Amino acid sequence: MAHALLAAASGGLLVTLRGDLGAGKTTLVRALLRALGVHGRIKSPSYALVEPYAIGENDIKFKRSIGTHAYHIDLYRFSSPDEWDDAGLRDVLDTHALCLVEWPEKAPQLLRRADIDIALTPSLEGRWICIHGGSPAGAAVVRQLASGQTDA
Ligand SMILES: Nc1ncnc2c1ncn2[C@@H]1O[C@H](COP(=O)(O)OP(=O)(O)OP(=O)(O)O)[C@@H](O)[C@H]1O
Ligand SMILES: [Mg+2]
Repeated sequence: MAHALLAAASGGLLVTLRGDLGAGKTTLVRALLRALGVHGRIKSPSYALVEPYAIGENDIKFKRSIGTHAYHIDLYRFSSPDEWDDAGLRDVLDTHALCLVEWPEKAPQLLRRADIDIALTPSLEGRWICIHGGSPAGAAVVRQLASGQTDA
C-alpha cells in the first residue's frame, strides 16, 4: 500500500481508517509509516490526538509524490469541536501531507471526504480489509494497489 501511495499519489492525501476497537487500524498505520521511511517509536496518538512524522527523508521520490510529512491522528477521544483547533487539526488537515485518521466517525462534521477510506474487520486468521477511493487521487492509489504494479 505504501508503494501504491508513492506511485499514484500527488500532494496531500486524507486516509481514514474504520473498524471496531482492536480491528487493526494502528497496526496498519505503523506498517505504512515504517514502509514510508519512519524510524523510531510510533506511538498511538490517542491522548495527543495527532503525532507528526517525517517521511522519506532525503528521498526526492517522496517529495514528488506525497510530501515530506505524515500525520497520524486518532479521534477516539475527540469530543468537542474546540479540541479541533487546540490540537492543530485544522492546520494539519489543510497541509499537503499524508494524514492517516483513526475513528473518523467521531468528527463527521469537521473532516472532509477522505481520499481513501479503509475498513478493517477481524477474521479468524487476520483481517478483512476494504479500501475505497473517494476522490480521483484516492481512486488512482486504489487502482495502483489493485493492479499489483507496486514497484515504485
Ligand atoms: N492483520 C492483523 N492480523 C492479526 N492481528 C492483528 C492484525 N492487525 C492488528 N492485529 C492485532 O490486533 C490488536 C489490536 O490492533 P490495533 O491496536 O492496531 O487496533 P486498533 O484498530 O488501532 O484499535 P483502537 O480502536 O483501540 O485504536 C493488536 O494486538 C494487534 O497486534
Ligand atoms: Mg488504534
